[in-house]
Amino acid sequence: MKKILMSLVLVLGFASVAMAGYDKCAGCHNGKVSPDKAALTAKFKTAADFIKAAKESKNPMMNAVKGNEADLKAAAADLGLK
Ligand code: HEC
Repeated sequence: MKKILMSLVLVLGFASVAMAGYDKCAGCHNGKVSPDKAALTAKFKTAADFIKAAKESKNPMMNAVKGNEADLKAAAADLGLK
């Protein structure tokens, strides 16, 4: 029983790691609701620019991620921005 519990914790741990970074943004940033990966990388050349724009976005849909610097940084890294 303990083993099953342990592996469940591990699997959940990995799943949440897999959902980090740009995966958290891709649901909205799909080119329909908001700019997709290609549009974002075309517009922003550095991670600093990207993170600043994310924080300054006036769109209420961005409120949930705005304050999460770690997520924004991970997303920038996923987009290949430095
Ligand atoms: C609930 C939907 C949603 C989620 C989740 C979301 N965004 Fe957004 N985001 C938007 C919308 C809508 C806009 C406004 C798009 C526009 O102005 O054309 C926006 C705008 C932005 C902008 C500014 C774009 C610009 O051209 O100025 C950046 C940068 C950005 N988001 C980054 C992110 C990152 C990074 C994440 C994930 C950590 C994320 N977003 C998650 C909906 C979302």
